[in-house]
Amino acid sequence: MEKAAYVREMFASIAPRYDTTNRVLTGGVDELWRRRAVKELAAPAGGRVVDLCCGTGDLSFHLLRSDATLQVTGVDFCEPMLDGARRRARHEAGAQNVSFERADVMALPFEDAAFDGAIMGFSMRNVVDIVATLRETRRILRPGARFVNLDVSKAPNPVFKRAFDLYFYGLVPLVGGIVGGSMSAYRYLPNSLTNYPGAAELSERFTLAGFREARFVRLAGGAVAVHVGTA
Ligand SMILES: C[S@@+](CC[C@H](N)C(=O)[O-])C[C@H]1O[C@@H](n2cnc3c(N)ncnc32)[C@H](O)[C@@H]1O
Repeated sequence: MEKAAYVREMFASIAPRYDTTNRVLTGGVDELWRRRAVKELAAPAGGRVVDLCCGTGDLSFHLLRSDATLQVTGVDFCEPMLDGARRRARHEAGAQNVSFERADVMALPFEDAAFDGAIMGFSMRNVVDIVATLRETRRILRPGARFVNLDVSKAPNPVFKRAFDLYFYGLVPLVGGIVGGSMSAYRYLPNSLTNYPGAAELSERFTLAGFREARFVRLAGGAVAVHVGTA
């Protein structure tokens, strides 16, 4: 629980400038990765989709831009991040089809098989127990629905990994301090990758949690990965 409380407070401190900092840190490329994740989800028209650890709602709004008939629920346990999502909803098209709720993704307030798809962006590194979170996600999906997880990962090429590490562990805290307003938060975020499983190992955890057809796509030379599982 200590980790959960720390993560919640840390995101509360960077919430006001979270979106701007993301765009600066990735040069806007994260938008392409998000589009790819939404494409892999292939949610059915009119379906109910949950954006887990939705933050300020980036993936929720991407989902609605890809298909305005979706019914999207964003879930996060950090109120200031949810405030940002609700503020954005006032200006985004399709906002009537999105709602944001406060909850911990390890204990979701939804019935079994309630959703036709689930997505998570840049958050799995932060949860206390990955397999428990995956099991809880599978519980709320109808059989046959997909879960897509987009996050940073460990690039397999050592030269590329070295270059990425210089950026991730060096530049990210610096820029995060200047633009995002908290160097310590942007030092935590890269460090959370250190104990995070590699892409193949994470895929195995999908299977362990009961997902079928677990697979992953490496992006940005493997520095980012999109994992897909079917409930
Ligand atoms: C790096 S942000 C990602 C936000 C958004 N998904 C995106 O793609 O920009 C991580 C988010 O996960 C949330 N989070 C972390 N652990 C959580 C948990 N156990 N339950 C709910 N939200 C959680 C944080 O509050 C934060 O908003």
